[in-house]
Order: sequence, then structure tokens, then C-alpha cells
Amino acid sequence: MDLDAIIDKLATVKVLVVGDVMLDHYIWGDATRISPEAPVPVVNVFNDSWSAGGAANVAMNLTSLKASASLAGVYAEDEAGDQLRTIFTQAGVDFSSMHLTASAPTIRKTRVVVQKQQICRIDRESAPAEYAFPGGEKLKQAFSGAHAVILSDYAKGVVTDELLDEVVAICKDSGAALSVDPKPRRRLNYQGAALMTPNRSEALELAEISVGLHDTFPTEAVCQAIYERYQPHRLVVTLGADGMILVEEGKILGRLPTRAQEVFDVSGAGDTVIAVLTASLATGASLVEAAHLANSAAGVVVGKFGAATVSPDELRTAAKLDQGIPLLTV
Ligand SMILES: Nc1ncnc2c1ncn2[C@@H]1O[C@H](COP(=O)(O)OP(=O)(O)OP(=O)(O)O)[C@@H](O)[C@H]1O
Ligand SMILES: [Mg+2]
Repeated sequence: MDLDAIIDKLATVKVLVVGDVMLDHYIWGDATRISPEAPVPVVNVFNDSWSAGGAANVAMNLTSLKASASLAGVYAEDEAGDQLRTIFTQAGVDFSSMHLTASAPTIRKTRVVVQKQQICRIDRESAPAEYAFPGGEKLKQAFSGAHAVILSDYAKGVVTDELLDEVVAICKDSGAALSVDPKPRRRLNYQGAALMTPNRSEALELAEISVGLHDTFPTEAVCQAIYERYQPHRLVVTLGADGMILVEEGKILGRLPTRAQEVFDVSGAGDTVIAVLTASLATGASLVEAAHLANSAAGVVVGKFGAATVSPDELRTAAKLDQGIPLLTV
């Protein structure tokens, strides 16, 4: 299929995102002096901004590409929860399946940024047990009509073994394809996933292989170990600036490199990758086609500050620039 046609078809896809929803709060300021009270900079704030983070950023990536996205996660009736609702309403993210908790705050990460440099992060959240998502009917309802489901686990409590089992079972019944961005330290059973998208260190951890930070990535051994353990239909290992390795039914198809470009902020690139891969595969695209689009989309977001999203036009332009990128043998 032609990549432009896939981008057009994204508008017909409906994806449910299950996972840890959070609010990203940015405090933008200047710092020209050190505090007389303690050896810390004094920040003069000139602006605050808010965006949807974690699993919510995956949903934002989907709607920005015109796919339908709904969210199953947990938040609270507080100021951060209100801000999330405003953001979701503006972006057209369906949050009717979100669970409201009365015992914990909406997870919020506040970053203080001075001259594009993050100088500290302030986290507000309770223990993971407070953010469990109710399974049963509530989860089944959340699935209504979804072609695919993305599990976006930030280890904040929504995704448990029990919830994962239920999600896998409902996917089996409904025919929805399950994509997982795994958190290996959680030791969850990811069997049943149609797609897994670990990054370099997550893939090594899933495979239980350890190498130094600067050693070459043991592609063959890692992909084989992950396939033996979890049998994902498709596996995409993201390697930051080195692009991504594509695996289908345990067979390595190759590595898709990135286009050299100016990188501003890599946070959120993984969210973009899983969103674009999942939605593209749901249109009937092949893994190689979907990966070309995901790579181009991630290339756009790393050029923006904060967890960012891509529009269909931006993706079309980037995909055109990336047209000649070959799938390399590994
Ligand atoms: N320096 C870079 N230059 C170009 N593209 C990049 C760069 N870093 C990341 N990307 C793109 O983003 C994709 C995902 O990056 P990475 O492997 O860092 O994911 P991640 O660690 O899951 O990110 P996240 O911080 O969102 O969790 C890469 O496969 C690539 O397409
Ligand atoms: Mg990631």
C-alpha cells in the first residue's frame, strides 16, 4: 500500500489505550541568580503549560493523526483531572471509560524548564494500588468497537496481571489486536500481544541479557529470547537514533535506520511509535510500511519539545523525505 493511502485510512481506525494517564505540567522561567536561602537557582516564572502524558500521550498521538482514541485509565476529581478533561475534549479523545478515584490524586509531573533546560521535576502521585483499573463490565464497555488496544504501562498501577489477563481475553473475543509497550521490571505476562515495542534496554531486560551501554546490541539473541518467551506476532525494538528492528513471527526482517536530523527532545518518541504502528497495522498496512510511518512520525516528535504529536500533513511530509530509507539487514 502507498504510505499516503495508509495515512488517509488512519481516520477509519479506532484504538483503545489502556494504561497510566498523567498530566504533564511545565513551568517555564528564567533564572539569573542563586537564592540567598539555599544553593539553588531562583526561577522567575513567565508561563505555565499543561499536556496529557503517559498513556494519554499515546491517545493524543492517535487523535492528532485523525484516528479515534479512547482511554481506560484512572484520574481524580481535582484540578489536574479538570485540566486533563479539557485537553481530551479539545483533542477529541474519548475519556468516558476513565475511572475516577476518590482516594488518590491525578498523577501529575511538573517540570521546571529554564532556557529549554529542565532543572527539576516534581511528581505528585500515590502508591500503585490506588490506581488499579476496575475490570469486568467497565473494561468490556471500554472496548466498544476498538480495532486495536494499546497497553501503555508506566508502572503507576493501572496495568496489573489481572487486568492484562482480562484485556488479552477480551481481545481474543473481539478480534482486537493488542499492542504492548512493556515495562520488563513489572514481570507481567505479555503473552497474547500482537505487537510489542520495547526500547533497547527494555528488550535486553525482557530477554534477560545484559550488555554494556556502549556494546553493540545483540539483535539475534535478544529477538529470539523475547519470541521464545512471549511469542508476539510482531516485535519492534526501538534503538533511539539507530532506528528500529522489525521482527515478524520470530523472524528478523531488518533494521530501519533514522534520518539524521536535529534532535530536540526524545521523550515521548516511544508513545508515537506504538500509536503509529498500531493504527497503521489496523488499516491493513504491512509491518514494514507501518514501521516506515512510525519512524518518520518519531523523527518529527524528537524535533519538538516535550511529549509531542504529529499531524497527518507533517507525517506525509516526513514520510516523503524518508522515502529512500532502506531496510538494512542485521
Ligand atoms: N536521536 C534520534 N534521531 C532520530 N530519531 C530518533 C532519535 N531518537 C529516537 N528516535 C526515533 O524514536 C524512536 C523511539 O525512540 P527510543 O528507542 O528512544 O524510544 P523510547 O526509549 O521508548 O522513548 P520514550 O522516551 O518515549 O519511552 C526510534 O525508533 C526513532 O524512530
Ligand atoms: Mg518507551
